[in-house]
Amino acid sequence: MMKSERILVIGSNGQIGSVLVEYLRGIYGENGVVASDLREPDHKPDYFEKLDATDANGLAAIVKKHGITQIYHLAAILSARGEQDPLNTWQINMQTYFNVLEVAREHGVRKIFYPSSIAVFGDHVDVTADQYSYLDPATVYGISKAAGENWSNYYFKRYGLDIRSLRYPGIISYQSMPGGGTTDYAVDIYHKAVKGEHFECFLKEDTTLPMIYMSDAMDATVRLMEASADSISIRTGYNLAGMSFSPKEIAASISKIIHGFEISYKPDFRQAIAESWPQHIDDTVARKDWGWRPAYTLDKMTEEMISELQKKYKTVKA
Ligand code: NAD
Ligand code: SER
Repeated sequence: MMKSERILVIGSNGQIGSVLVEYLRGIYGENGVVASDLREPDHKPDYFEKLDATDANGLAAIVKKHGITQIYHLAAILSARGEQDPLNTWQINMQTYFNVLEVAREHGVRKIFYPSSIAVFGDHVDVTADQYSYLDPATVYGISKAAGENWSNYYFKRYGLDIRSLRYPGIISYQSMPGGGTTDYAVDIYHKAVKGEHFECFLKEDTTLPMIYMSDAMDATVRLMEASADSISIRTGYNLAGMSFSPKEIAASISKIIHGFEISYKPDFRQAIAESWPQHIDDTVARKDWGWRPAYTLDKMTEEMISELQKKYKTVKA
């Protein structure tokens, strides 16, 4: 039986949004999910609203029109792109979130999902970040996510707004392309490998980062949003772990299937961002509070990524 919610996904054209909208529609029904973004996507779904989320009145009108009960606020400028224009990144990431918080409060939206990031951590974390590690982010993106987490906690405590948040690791997907992050290489590498091309990596070969497969990220997101409110002990952002690997290790995993795959390394400004992040995430609290467990290892993800991209590129050629 479909659940009766009216969900608004803001930033629905992006790497996560384009997968999440379909995932949520599988649970809440086609008309249970309204997608929204700055521009109409190529294949405009039913229930799509064009929205610049810096426009609070536009957001409020959509919430009223559709009787929205939950908002998944995905719109943001990510880590690498964010460094090109720090003040604009701060403005977009924070203004859109303040609009969501205020519109939700004024119009009785019951639940909000706020995607945070491993970018909230900085140089004080050497190797592994635990749930309560110190937050000293090195990028404007990370600063905005740490601030967003604290505002989430404030709105929960002050107004009782039920906001839930995950500190996503780098997300890897075959369905969609990433949009300007430091972990983007781990998606691009599969596309190059499947097309039989050489891959030049913008990180050094031994730069280990936390990552997660899209399927696990979807499972974690809905599991958290569906958990009973009294099981949620973290109202800032939950640490979430999938797997950790370096460019050299993902290349070795790909080479087990695509023999002769070649990679070279040409680190750029994203190396410093990657080095400011932890290599591993301790997600004990998420596991304890709402039963989180990832299903994918690096090799299992590699098998699925390659097989799905092979189908995709064959379709494109035909
Ligand atoms: P993305 O860049 O692929 O997509 C973001 C979407 O937001 C885009 O479609 C963009 O058009 C839209 N957008 C930007 N400004 C907007 C505005 N003012 N109004 C409406 N829409 C706007 O990002 P993503 O990878 O899908 O990430 C979604 C969220 O998850 C972000 O908040 C990001 O910080 C977070 N996150 C992502 C990852 C990852 O690896 N992808 C990891 C950690 C956290
Ligand atoms: N994948 C994201 C980025 O690299 C992490 O939040 O920006």
